[in-house]
Amino acid sequence: MEWIEALHIIFMVTWFAGLFYLPRLFVYHAMATDELSKERFKVMERKLFFGIMTPGMILTLAFGIWLLVSYAWMAFKDSGWLYAKLALVAVLVLYHIYCGKLMFDFKHDRNRHGHVFYRWFNEFPVLILFAVIILVVVKPF
Ligand code: HEM
Repeated sequence: MEWIEALHIIFMVTWFAGLFYLPRLFVYHAMATDELSKERFKVMERKLFFGIMTPGMILTLAFGIWLLVSYAWMAFKDSGWLYAKLALVAVLVLYHIYCGKLMFDFKHDRNRHGHVFYRWFNEFPVLILFAVIILVVVKPF
């Protein structure tokens, strides 16, 4: 099971690399004025979203569910931290999907937000990361 947990953490880091960097690209993309820069951001965003972030998410969830089914459900089904973690993970998946929607808006030059919005939007996964790591490591309840 240690191998599955290691893979779970490796792909979680991969997923978060994208969750942190894609909204950063949105900040710069929202500030870009010339066509060449905009087209370059579109390619970077697409490759990051489909090549790194989405596989990272799918594999994190797959190995997480593997851990849950193999032992953790029986061990922790009475622990509140597990349900709190799963709820936060569900919110993170929604954030990921919303990132995909924003990426498509940029792709079709339909972005409606300014760079300040994306700077705040970028902070959200940081909060989720802090909360989930504290829940799984400290197991406070
Ligand atoms: C479907 C989603 C997920 C499921 C079902 C799941 C399930 C699990 C389970 C069962 C464990 C083992 C817990 C233990 O034995 O103490 C674990 C460990 C861990 N998970 Fe997840 N997880 C999911 C998503 C995530 C996400 C999104 C993150 C990061 C934000 C994450 C971070 C971690 C970390 C850091 C550990 C290692 C904890 C330790 O060894 O102390 N997991 N996960």
